[in-house]
Amino acid sequence: MSLNSAAARRDQAFHLHPATNLRSVLTDGPLVITRGEGVYVYDEEGKRYIEGMAGLWCASLGFSERRLADAAYRQMCELPFYHSFAGKVPAISTELAKRLIEVAPAGMGKVLFSNSGSEANDTAIKLAWYINNALGRPKKKKIVSRKRAYHGVTIATASLTGLAFAQNDFDVPIAGILHTDCPHYYRGAEAGESEEAFAERLAANLEALILRERPDTVAAFFAEPVMGAGGVIVPPASYFERIQPILKKYQILFVADEVICAFGRTGNMFAAQTFDLKPDIMTVAKALSAGYQPISATMVTNELYDIVLAQSDKFGIFGHGYTYSSHPVPAAVALETLKIYEERDIVAQVRGVAPRMQAGIRSYADHPLIGEARGIGMIGAVELVRDKTTKQSFDAKAGVGAYLVRRAQHHGAILRNMPGDIVAFSPPLIIREREIDEMLWCFGKALDDTWAMVKEKELA
Ligand SMILES: Cc1ncc(COP(=O)(O)O)c(C=O)c1O
Repeated sequence: MSLNSAAARRDQAFHLHPATNLRSVLTDGPLVITRGEGVYVYDEEGKRYIEGMAGLWCASLGFSERRLADAAYRQMCELPFYHSFAGKVPAISTELAKRLIEVAPAGMGKVLFSNSGSEANDTAIKLAWYINNALGRPKKKKIVSRKRAYHGVTIATASLTGLAFAQNDFDVPIAGILHTDCPHYYRGAEAGESEEAFAERLAANLEALILRERPDTVAAFFAEPVMGAGGVIVPPASYFERIQPILKKYQILFVADEVICAFGRTGNMFAAQTFDLKPDIMTVAKALSAGYQPISATMVTNELYDIVLAQSDKFGIFGHGYTYSSHPVPAAVALETLKIYEERDIVAQVRGVAPRMQAGIRSYADHPLIGEARGIGMIGAVELVRDKTTKQSFDAKAGVGAYLVRRAQHHGAILRNMPGDIVAFSPPLIIREREIDEMLWCFGKALDDTWAMVKEKELA
């Protein structure tokens, strides 16, 4: 990392860095990335890093898929912009919508595109409200999210997000947002409680919350099938099996936020298949275009669409959408991405390499710093603890996870530290076994460095 390079100085001068420690980026400078190749990215000095996070859980096909660049270029030449307001639509967007509904789990019937995961979830909230107004249930508007959820950072989605860093001093949450338990067995289980009993207790808590608030005030339940930014939390096997009937019982819409999970990450095309989910609304983004273009989608069942259709008759317009909903260039890139997933059987690729990554992550489980090593498919994490027996965490100010990630970067791998000293792995899905080994080798070296630092500073 060149702290004094012209590029770094320019960046310091002009960027209000998102999701960043603004003070340390001022002193240390940002890591300036200039190009990518396969699962690697290169900084301005030519140093190579294995991208263990696929950027932000999104660059599923790595950083040099020429077909996606060509698809964008072709579309730029043919029709660089058009929109879908007032009954118009770019042809390519229609093609993408059709393909998305074909690959999506049964039940999804219509799709509305946006530019980001946050907007897709925002749209889902608005649809839940609109639908309940249409059904003559004006009080049924509260949304249940979960502690440690991450659904975005717009005003409404930052309200759903159950992480302090996304809410502090932003005057959120807005009214009407409820947070129920996070399904993290390692942290949330009571002494001697089985995973089954834990899942049962969480389901009972959700039902009690709904009853306390009154079912006729609760509109929707949002869930990431595997929680990402909250710490890569894979729920107990029976969790969703227990939650879904409760939602049905009280006519609460189930919104599956598959922004991270969709398109292979959990070992199926959608996590809805991995966890046997029957969502009413489903949001996707990120790997929809392999991260190459900003695009997201909110999918709804035909049953919900019919309600929206009838309600829009009342106003003569369905008054929601963005200038860049259905933008043809991201649509072309997403369509090509879906073609590549099919041609290269991305699900088989994930199933082929995931055991290597999961076993590799778990091979560190006995290390004195690691409280839990976890994951599914091509998403995983380790949770660093001060005391393995009591599961006591480090003081957040000690910055142990951040230190590990810095050391991993030094050794040549980009990983991500999340609240609670949880270090995540979510590499491009095209990663090969030897690249997984390389990523984990860098992690191992960083773990050794971290252990030495912890001992030297007597943090544990
Ligand atoms: C599960 C989930 N939902 C929503 C979002 C928000 O997406 P965006 O950053 O594109 O707004 C994210 C971002 O990481 C996410 O992980």
